Amino acid sequence: MSKEENKKLFIETLGCQMNDTDSQHIIAELKEHKNYSTTNNMEEADLIIINTCSVREKPVQKLFSEIGQFNKKKKDTAKIGVCGCTASHLGEDIMKRAPYVDFVLGARNISKIKDIVDKKGAVEIDIDYDDSTYQFAQSGTSLYKTSVNISIGCDKECTYCIVPATRGEEISIPLEMIVQQVAKDVANGAVEVTLLGQNVNSYGRRFSDGREKTSFTKLLQEVSKIDGLERIRFSSPHPLHMDDEFIEELVKNPKISKCIHMPLQSGSTSILKDMKRGYSKEGFLKRAKKIRDLIPEVRITTDIIVAFPGETQEDFEDTIDVINQVKFDQIFNFKYSPRPNTQALELEEKEIADNIGSARLTEVIELHKLHQSEHMESNIGKTVNVLFESLKPNGEVSGFTDNYVQVFVKGSDELLGRFIDVKITGASRTSLKGEVIN
Ligand code: SAH
Ligand code: SF4
Ligand code: F3S
Repeated sequence: MSKEENKKLFIETLGCQMNDTDSQHIIAELKEHKNYSTTNNMEEADLIIINTCSVREKPVQKLFSEIGQFNKKKKDTAKIGVCGCTASHLGEDIMKRAPYVDFVLGARNISKIKDIVDKKGAVEIDIDYDDSTYQFAQSGTSLYKTSVNISIGCDKECTYCIVPATRGEEISIPLEMIVQQVAKDVANGAVEVTLLGQNVNSYGRRFSDGREKTSFTKLLQEVSKIDGLERIRFSSPHPLHMDDEFIEELVKNPKISKCIHMPLQSGSTSILKDMKRGYSKEGFLKRAKKIRDLIPEVRITTDIIVAFPGETQEDFEDTIDVINQVKFDQIFNFKYSPRPNTQALELEEKEIADNIGSARLTEVIELHKLHQSEHMESNIGKTVNVLFESLKPNGEVSGFTDNYVQVFVKGSDELLGRFIDVKITGASRTSLKGEVIN
């Protein structure tokens, strides 16, 4: 039997970490079943895939400008596929706007890639499709770090967010499948895992085989038992569901990285209500304070949306107040972007003028820079433990501390994959410099 000829895949990924993992699954499936290998050169590719994001308008515009370019420069015979969240929400409209697209494959339908890749004109965007128990081919790309999905979809109804409409209802991946996947990656050399879901704290509420419920805390405990796994991260938890049992696990489990994402979105209780986030300004502050008190070295990161419809100056000042009180270690800032299929569209008449949104965004960014510098400089003179993971062209080696600060030292590849004590000698706003302690 002649083996199918080797073909080249060029894949571009927009959006979040879950989309990155989906792209790894696509690569692994096409490698195992269709004999594709990846290339960074789009012009030599036989298949071009763009794995899209819909969360704001910008990445959707990017999709159409990019595929237009791909179509001009690609080999004549090359196919173009559009996958991910924008594929889910626009479906066959993508082909109407860009008739040269060969197939459209929505998020949570990714396991169908090997069947759809050769079907010209196919559109698979079933929002109820359940691939939570599909065994994806092994990607084998993980070196020291790996990412594993723990659920698909999202059951929350944050009024600004398109994700529930693109990824459908939440279904947890069976616990033993997750543990098995992490153990496999650890056997291949990974020492760190990031567990991924749109709302990790709701893990275990619904499985497709109707089995008994479990919890995210239980999953953390089971994953921690894997020998050789040294560090566990996860994204994203939801501030509303970070209950005492979960916080206790954060505090006492030494394998859990002490860098926690707490997406605030807004500091105003009235805006949080309109966003349907389920917590108040005070509730958020109380939880953040509790975590900082119990874990002094913790770093807290967040997401903030400014200029949500109806956001007054007073509401915005509440956001500034929370930023000043929590002093987040990292803020991902966004200006509100109206999205199809979201409840916030009903608040259209309360939309905030773009120049006000931009000014608020700038204010958040500038304030945050001050806090970042303050946090980073407080590390000078301290000794930290770093997992080294990449060699830089200038002879430096970079890695991350347990609370996820990037550290650079002079050194060689001997450091890679090891946890090593480093004395911090300098700080920039986003990283540290240090010397290995021998
Ligand atoms: N499930 C995750 C991530 C959701 S998308 C979570 O809840 O944390 C990542 C971030 O994009 C959100 O946290 C939010 O800050 C931002 N975002 C989502 N929809 C948006 C919109 N319509 N406009 C601007 N930012 C948005
Ligand atoms: Fe969107 Fe909210 Fe779900 Fe996050 S938790 S994906 S912001 S609906
Ligand atoms: Fe974007 Fe979909 Fe992720 S909309 S943020 S790729 S869940």
